[in-house]
Amino acid sequence: MLGSISPVAPPNPPLEAPNLPPCPRCGAPLVLPPGAPGRSLECTGCALCLERSGQFFDALGERPREAKAAQVEEFYRHSPFPGYAPGLTLGDLVERARRSPFLTALERTAPTSGPILELGSGTAQTSAFLAAAASGRRVWAVDGCRASLEHAESFRSRVGLANLHLLRADLFDLPLPRRAFPFVLSRGVVHHTPDPERATREVADRVAPGGLLVLGIYESMARRPHDLRRRAAQVFGRGFAYATDPMLRRGELDPEKARIWYEDQYRHPLEVLLPLPRVADWLHSAGFDWVRSVPPALDGDGLADERRPSAAGLFLRRLGWFVRGPFDVDNGLVCLVARRRD
Ligand SMILES: C[S@@+](CC[C@H](N)C(=O)[O-])C[C@H]1O[C@@H](n2cnc3c(N)ncnc32)[C@H](O)[C@@H]1O
Repeated sequence: MLGSISPVAPPNPPLEAPNLPPCPRCGAPLVLPPGAPGRSLECTGCALCLERSGQFFDALGERPREAKAAQVEEFYRHSPFPGYAPGLTLGDLVERARRSPFLTALERTAPTSGPILELGSGTAQTSAFLAAAASGRRVWAVDGCRASLEHAESFRSRVGLANLHLLRADLFDLPLPRRAFPFVLSRGVVHHTPDPERATREVADRVAPGGLLVLGIYESMARRPHDLRRRAAQVFGRGFAYATDPMLRRGELDPEKARIWYEDQYRHPLEVLLPLPRVADWLHSAGFDWVRSVPPALDGDGLADERRPSAAGLFLRRLGWFVRGPFDVDNGLVCLVARRRD
């Protein structure tokens, strides 16, 4: 499967549509079907239809979406996450990412060539960082929200990132091969769906044998303090959130990014808190081994393996997250890193 999505150009790229990646689903060339509108593409292998704008490919088009997915897309249409600071350059984005031990570790761990997949990329800033850091990577950033990906495409084309591709698709109907990607990231996504277990399975299914999954969830104990703050903000108003939220209190976000953070953290229409042991069990039964969780904080050496904590050890770890919760800038977002066994 991997060969079908390698960064190597297909042997006979269609003349009508140069500089296109192969079909994300089957790896065959994409062509402009005769008589179709100029933005339409069709796969010569599996007949997948995509609308194209630059390197933004839309598999959903105008098709109506399931009610919850439509509600979540509408939410992000007004508050595409994460926000782009005006005039952000690629250098700014890379420098900011390198200041984050998590993103640095992610970048050091991801293969430096071949396909990388981010599911629920939002405005694709992490994907842009991974693509910028190694030109041999072909990064697919997938999200259900057209507006978020339009922001991503506008940044991508402005800074000229050729190895970043943006795909609009629903997590529950992904036009992507199973067991094909050696590195899959999905951070802050499955808990915004009506069925986080199935969403987790869809994400995990894309990981190749031996490949790594980095799955970010709102962990139920880690997020509880924020959940209480969120409820209090509903009573006391936005000012309460701005005065107590660790990220907003830092004062580093420009007003629009701060607004988007506030909306995402305090007014999201669909959010489910997930206990880490349960998600680890889902992944175990999907054929994955524990690599580590983040936190604990990273030391800059990549996403190194740790021994899976015992049930008691994991409970104590989660208790620590709960206690530190009021001061956590991530508001209880915890990453679970796992490797596919077979
Ligand atoms: C909080 S944002 C996370 C963005 C990015 N992963 C990050 O960490 O910056 C959640 C993203 O999940 C996407 N999402 C939620 N449900 C989805 C679905 N069913 N299909 C595709 N994307 C979905 C949303 O559109 C949104 O952009």
